[in-house]
Amino acid sequence: MLLSVENVTKVFGRNTAVDNVAFSVDKPAFVGIIGRSGAGKSTFLRMVNRLTDATAGAIHFDGRDVLSLKGAEKRAWQSDCAMIFQQFNLVPRMDVVSNVLHGTLNRHSALATMFNLYPTSDIHRAIDILERLGIAEQAAKRAEALSGGQQQRVAIARALMQDPKIILADEPIASLDPMNAQVVMDALRRIHEEDGRMVVANLHTLDTARRYCDRVIGMREGRIVFDGTPEQLTTGVARDIYGADASFSEASTSTSIDALDANARAMMEEVEVL
Ligand SMILES: Nc1ncnc2c1ncn2[C@@H]1O[C@H](COP(=O)(O)OP(=O)(O)OP(=O)(O)O)[C@@H](O)[C@H]1O
Ligand SMILES: [Mg+2]
Repeated sequence: MLLSVENVTKVFGRNTAVDNVAFSVDKPAFVGIIGRSGAGKSTFLRMVNRLTDATAGAIHFDGRDVLSLKGAEKRAWQSDCAMIFQQFNLVPRMDVVSNVLHGTLNRHSALATMFNLYPTSDIHRAIDILERLGIAEQAAKRAEALSGGQQQRVAIARALMQDPKIILADEPIASLDPMNAQVVMDALRRIHEEDGRMVVANLHTLDTARRYCDRVIGMREGRIVFDGTPEQLTTGVARDIYGADASFSEASTSTSIDALDANARAMMEEVEVL
């Protein structure tokens, strides 16, 4: 097994945010995690990355006992396990290349980093990665001057600078319009296919999970309630995962342009009825 998650639990006070989660993945797949707000998706990813300590359970990745790593080994894991966030987490006033070079932070001394003294080879590599993501012409701009989709691609570039084995993405497209969402998901998928890096992405829409993932895990109230292929993720199953009532509609969990159009049409029809 490449990744095995064994009965992982996270308790906050009296609230069990992640409840006995277990699954395994035998090759570097593109895995999506879906579920309504509060289901435990972010908490789970944060445990994998060791941003949060698990209350119980074990995680193994490629022979490493992730949850028991300490010190330098834990930092090495965090470098192999890059994280991407909904809000990009860039330094807004800093230029794009410097933001990307931050991905090598744990390899350099604090002093060198403070004075922006990066090896030329790293700078070239950063530009190459930006090129690959189609944003090299933005390299000298401040991060805050870029569109959301461009900023998220900078965040992906920063992640790639770490040369990670696995990329964890927590709702990477939740703040983006449908067009930019597609560009960012396409970039992640391409990185997965071309480099063989595993991706685990928390996604808030069904259509994105269906379109980009090899495997989808559905969480509800901290537990896994679905684990299967996109084909197995039928509307009925989705209704189960989201715990939705009769008003549940695919469009309400969709970012696609088609679905937005459908929503707009539905609204227009309502207006006409009124
Ligand atoms: N630091 C924390 N302290 C206390 N409770 C927390 C903390 N972080 C998360 N929780 C709780 O754990 C549960 C799961 O939260 P989590 O953020 O993992 O859900 P999520 O599936 O990522 O939701 P969303 O879709 O809104 O991002 C929630 O009940 C939340 O209130
Ligand atoms: Mg979350």
